[in-house]
Amino acid sequence: MKNKILVTGGAGYIGSHTCIALHEAGYDIVVYDNLSNSSREAIRRVSNLIGESIKFIEGDIRDDEMLGQVFSSNDFFGVIHFAGLKSVSESVAEPLLYYDNNVSGTITLLEVMAEYGIKNLVFSSSATVYGDPETLPIDESSPRSCTNPYGQSKLAVEYILEDLAVSDNSWNLIALRYFNPVGAHSSGQIGEDPNDIPNNLMPYISQVAVGKLEKLSIFGNDYRTIDGTGIRDFIHVIDLAQGHVAALNYLKNQIIINKRDSIRFLPINLGTGNGTSVLELVNTFTEVTGKAIPYQFTDRRKGDVASCYASASKAKFLLGWEAKLSITEMCQDTWNWQSNNPNGYSVKDI
Ligand code: NAD
Ligand code: UD1
Repeated sequence: MKNKILVTGGAGYIGSHTCIALHEAGYDIVVYDNLSNSSREAIRRVSNLIGESIKFIEGDIRDDEMLGQVFSSNDFFGVIHFAGLKSVSESVAEPLLYYDNNVSGTITLLEVMAEYGIKNLVFSSSATVYGDPETLPIDESSPRSCTNPYGQSKLAVEYILEDLAVSDNSWNLIALRYFNPVGAHSSGQIGEDPNDIPNNLMPYISQVAVGKLEKLSIFGNDYRTIDGTGIRDFIHVIDLAQGHVAALNYLKNQIIINKRDSIRFLPINLGTGNGTSVLELVNTFTEVTGKAIPYQFTDRRKGDVASCYASASKAKFLLGWEAKLSITEMCQDTWNWQSNNPNGYSVKDI
């Protein structure tokens, strides 16, 4: 069976780590990315780590002509679709940009895939589609709702994929709902490199530790949780990358054994199943790195939920995958990346 995979958004944080895992698993990859939130330097470093030059095409998923050229000159098994914009606050300020990039871009990609008869897709969804969860841990049948344009764009794509699967049973569509990805490759060569001041907790902590930011604001200490701070399911990006390999292998296997009916549109959580509070993460980071993280408690952040963690049993049952790396390893690897690369990839558009 074919083993060539198109990786949209493969130069980004999760995509770059997944490229390494896919290569190690024997997949032949082509990265397609417009570098709107990443750099050629990330591609260069992934190439160094895998010991060969990665195939990279600079292009936009909204560009059907360019995508057509890519599909006509490669015989793909399928697509892993990471490309998307991901800032909640930016999405509130620029909803049209988010719907255009994340929703219209995905429609264009799906249209080109259909034109070339490539109907295997693994899509980057998010635990954000669960909104404020009614029950914990959150399983895949939990109700979905979102409160911001970024989340709506992920939910909209999920609905589109569901409808597509109903309309034509030759599609095999897996939506991986990530919980809170953190950490970095153990080499310290690649990692998360946010533009501007980070919105997310772990990159904020690591930038305080490296001296780029003065103090962490902890958004709320009056939640009904063990220590009053929010609880999340942090998952190491290396485990997440392996989850993509497992999803692709599953998809391939179901085709081989002629059980595609089990896929159609298949949502799967990628989380550890464990909740960690904001304060616990800060304390573990300090223990592991020896770096004190000055912090202050401030008001809750609008749109935040108290607790969010996955039921990880569907991924284990279907994909034979489960997260292995601990919070300690997440902190260690984040710090290894941040301390070796205080300015990330430095120049975003080398
Ligand atoms: P990232 O920004 O590092 O990577 C996304 C990549 O997509 C970037 O390299 C960017 O340049 C590229 N891209 C964006 N729009 C594009 C377009 N129109 N055409 C081509 N390339 C485009 O983000 P990430 O953290 O690696 O996230 C990957 C995916 O996972 C995203 O879809 C994101 O929404 C989703 N996700 C991320 C998280 C998280 O916490 N990081 C959580 C849940 C879901
Ligand atoms: C956020 C987004 C979510 C998105 C995900 C990945 C919101 C409301 N949710 O999830 O849609 O899919 O990022 O990009 O923005 N915290 C602090 N101080 C900080 C930063 C965060 O106390 O400086 C706290 C938050 O209140 C939360 C926890 O840390 O309790 C995790 O926050 P974050 O890393 O931003 O992730 P989520 O809010 O879970």
